[in-house]
Amino acid sequence: MASRGPSRPASWSRLDDVLVVTRCADLRGLPPPDAASPYRVEPLDMSDPADVTRWLTVLNAAFGRRWGPAEHRRALLCHPVVRIRHTVAAVAPDGTVAGVASVGVFRADEEVGLGHYLCVLPAAQGSGVGRLLLRHRYRLLADEGIRVAESQTHLSRRRSLLLHFEHGFVPKYRHDPWNSPDPSPRALRWTARARLWALHRAWVRGSATGGAPARPAARTDADTDR
Ligand SMILES: CC(C)(COP(=O)(O)OP(=O)(O)OC[C@H]1O[C@@H](n2cnc3c(N)ncnc32)[C@H](O)[C@@H]1OP(=O)(O)O)[C@@H](O)C(=O)NCCC(=O)NCCS
Repeated sequence: MASRGPSRPASWSRLDDVLVVTRCADLRGLPPPDAASPYRVEPLDMSDPADVTRWLTVLNAAFGRRWGPAEHRRALLCHPVVRIRHTVAAVAPDGTVAGVASVGVFRADEEVGLGHYLCVLPAAQGSGVGRLLLRHRYRLLADEGIRVAESQTHLSRRRSLLLHFEHGFVPKYRHDPWNSPDPSPRALRWTARARLWALHRAWVRGSATGGAPARPAARTDADTDR
């Protein structure tokens, strides 16, 4: 796991450990993936060691981690909270896997979908790969009759949060028993949820005026590993 660095205030580190959840009430409203994208989306077979290596390469580069097959197994195959249904890759015209994303359902409520590990190679970020994969993965769920989906992340993952807002995900204030447990102190949990709402309000204002969303008092996602 990447070092958090000596100069970071402790309070920020702890706030970034708090789980935040967004929820889309109806996946059928999702726009289709960009048909003009130069990237093609393909399924990855997570029982195939070659595809596991492709997944690990993108994940490690995007998150600054050094995961191997054991971590892949824990995070994707036997995750205690989510049962993964699909893992897909965005493949560039030269055959490079530029991004990966998974989607599944909560083990404690299989009617509710969950996006899991959306990541794009740093060199390919900002060119629409994240949006392509996000739409693709939730549409796979919608095609299977899953109407509702959630995304669980941290405030520091601002870019992912904004992408989810753009696709109809809204902050969820009260977590359900199917969500990941969060042992953070209560005050931190409330603070994180208040900031999530503030980010969403700023995004709504920005999208209503056609401008960029106002930047909340949160760090960017560049300097953290989760
Ligand atoms: C979050 C992530 C998946 C987004 O993927 P991406 O391919 O960079 O995103 P896209 O190019 O589809 O862009 C989506 C939006 O993100 C924002 N964005 C993308 N690149 C950006 C950049 N370099 N600077 C600022 N904003 C940026 C923009 O709002 C963009 O919307 P726009 O196209 O209307 O400008 C990617 O940045 C990533 O892998 N980050 C590290 C891992 C991570 O945080 N994963 C999410 C965990 S929940």
